[in-house]
Amino acid sequence: MNVVFNRSCHPKMSELADASVDMIFTDPPYFQYRAQNVKGLKNHKDVVTEFEFDGFQSEKKYLSFLEDILKEAYRVAKPGASGYLFCADDFVSYLNRIIEAAGFKVRKVIHWHKTNPFPAISSRKMYANSMELLIHFSKGSPATWNHKPVNEMHNYRNTAVTKSDIENLIEKYRGEDKIGQLLELMKDALRDGTVDNLIENSICMGKERTKHKTQKPLKVCVPFIEISSNPDDVILDPFMGAGSTAIAALQTGRNFVGYEIDAGYCEFIQKRFDDFLSKNPDFQGEKPVIRV
Ligand SMILES: C[S@@+](CC[C@H](N)C(=O)[O-])C[C@H]1O[C@@H](n2cnc3c(N)ncnc32)[C@H](O)[C@@H]1O
Repeated sequence: MNVVFNRSCHPKMSELADASVDMIFTDPPYFQYRAQNVKGLKNHKDVVTEFEFDGFQSEKKYLSFLEDILKEAYRVAKPGASGYLFCADDFVSYLNRIIEAAGFKVRKVIHWHKTNPFPAISSRKMYANSMELLIHFSKGSPATWNHKPVNEMHNYRNTAVTKSDIENLIEKYRGEDKIGQLLELMKDALRDGTVDNLIENSICMGKERTKHKTQKPLKVCVPFIEISSNPDDVILDPFMGAGSTAIAALQTGRNFVGYEIDAGYCEFIQKRFDDFLSKNPDFQGEKPVIRV
């Protein structure tokens, strides 16, 4: 436990026992090599993301690779485990299908609103890319749901639906069985506040940021880990990158197991482990390590 293997997750994950992880939290390569199509743009190197770890030869190979990983993830997940998978908007429906084909149930697509996206270049006549998606899925019904009120995830508290909004709707639909029952349930849910499929946060900035180009901010990882796992649980991430899942797990008293194919990125992870341990001298858990 608390290991990142500097190896490809495929087939190294086959060493994990069946039903041995409580949650999956991962951010695989996005297959952005298609960005080469915009090479005609002046200064395109400055504005287009071409990640060396994204080098799949075709969309088919990319999707078939992820299918293999998801099947393995299903095998090692405990019944009731939740999974979260970051993805780009253009692949979300394919990935939903692959996730379901592996045996999981897709529950919701969550939108991360990046409050400081890279600006769009007006000559391209395109909107800035300020959204990234996170698919929530589960093996059966989720075993863990540590509810979080919506205002902890973003700042739209004042526009969220209120109890009186629901009561007005109940009045309007009185006598219409199904919708009436649903609204009664919603009224109950409002006691605790709702948690919805939007999180707002900047892209990874400041001291937290390593040189990994697609590092996810801890503030976007931690809430989902807290909602869908409990202290001492084991979280799997087959694509550790700069180790954000591992650090989020350590910060919240969870354990992790993961893989990162690139030795240079593993050095970033090691440094983050060292920083974590020096800032948390009383850490009681298993010491985090990198292994080959
Ligand atoms: C999108 S990044 C993950 C970033 C990570 N969430 C973070 O916050 O730092 C995907 C990572 O998967 C790694 N990767 C790609 N193929 C892999 C494989 N077969 N096994 C393990 N890691 C792999 C890449 O090197 C890259 O660092």
